[in-house]
Amino acid sequence: MQKLTSQAEWIERARAVLPAGGFGNFDPGIVIARGVGSRVWDEDGQEYVDYLIGSGPMLLGHGHPEVMEAVLQQLPKGMTFFANNTKGIELAEAIVDAVPCCEQVRFVASGGEADMYAIRLARAYTGRDKVVKFEGGYHGMSAEAQMSLAPSARVNFPQAVPDSAGIPQGVADQMLIAPFNDLAAVEALLNEHKDIAAIITEPLQRIIAPEPGYLQGLRALCDAHHVLLIFDEIVTGFRLAYGGAQERYGVTPDICTLGKIIGGGFPLAALGASAEIMAHFDKSIIGADKWLMQLGTLSGNPVAAAAGLKTMEILRRPGTYDRLREIGHSLQDMQSTALTEAGIAHRICGDETLFDIYFTERPCRDYRTAHHDNPKRNAIYNATLRRHGVFKSPGKLYPSLAITDADLDLTRSAVAHAVQAIC
Ligand SMILES: Cc1ncc(COP(=O)(O)O)c(C=O)c1O
Repeated sequence: MQKLTSQAEWIERARAVLPAGGFGNFDPGIVIARGVGSRVWDEDGQEYVDYLIGSGPMLLGHGHPEVMEAVLQQLPKGMTFFANNTKGIELAEAIVDAVPCCEQVRFVASGGEADMYAIRLARAYTGRDKVVKFEGGYHGMSAEAQMSLAPSARVNFPQAVPDSAGIPQGVADQMLIAPFNDLAAVEALLNEHKDIAAIITEPLQRIIAPEPGYLQGLRALCDAHHVLLIFDEIVTGFRLAYGGAQERYGVTPDICTLGKIIGGGFPLAALGASAEIMAHFDKSIIGADKWLMQLGTLSGNPVAAAAGLKTMEILRRPGTYDRLREIGHSLQDMQSTALTEAGIAHRICGDETLFDIYFTERPCRDYRTAHHDNPKRNAIYNATLRRHGVFKSPGKLYPSLAITDADLDLTRSAVAHAVQAIC
């Protein structure tokens, strides 16, 4: 009989060929063997309830039978063409139907790419260079996005701190950093700098919720200063509501980016806006000088589009988002109750569809206030959850529609152990 490779051996093999022993994403101390529905298994056969769900895409759970069927129907017809195909066109139609700011969309392969082009598009449209970004906001890996995501030094606003080596100072000079949920700070920037093209924001920044009126205020400031508002909806799109955060919060940006769920677990993302703004991708309308060159080998990939389309069809069914919120509410409530009973100071931050806990008594309204008073407590809490069969990132919990009552029971028991561990 062939000897099975243990997880420890896989981790060793990864260390030899992958820098830092991994793909750069998640804890390289676990190797996932498979995922089915609400569960994943590691290479040692340990089973977990999955609240990482691929960092967001697997909202329906792993291997949803209808999504698999849609993919299997597409596979024999072709895997990629670098040319228009019906699945991609249908997906564009479905997004335009769903998302308020989108009259047209352009497909790319990853969320970070979508954000990079969204910023470039705003610059092309306004003819200005500067971009306002919020401290702690995540928009992928482009040079512009890698500014003050997790600044190593606390500097004065609006100075940008690069998060990565290899980024020219000239990029930092074009970025203005502001605290999230602070309209006065944004207004001051807009009054002082007349060369701002756009404000880019996650409408729900990581798990920090916008305060009432904040997004409406951003919208009004952008209108008053003729600056474009970009919502990064890579995470929130088709999660907070079918029409994303812009539907949930009732604020329509000028440009939005989408990813994760719209690819149904395959590499696909998009940016969308009005036809007037999107005309910058069409040289015949906009002319060579204002044209934004954009192409990509996998853009509009038919397998990803088939998976995304079927995912969206399932999400449109009545009651879907009520059910997702019910699951999220149960998960918040079970943790909050257990922590409160144990007398542990905490805040549940985010939305029922995406949230986590900060071990603090302070309200979490921006990057500087969203912190654990004792980060060790969070590490122990999450490690204990993992040991008792709950798989999540230490900074976010993604509920999925595949979660069952049995999953909630298992999670409740893991939470009891985790709370005990930090008492
Ligand atoms: C808000 C946000 N924007 C952009 C991205 C980048 O997307 P991708 O990892 O597909 O490049 C992410 C990824 O998690 C994200 O959370």
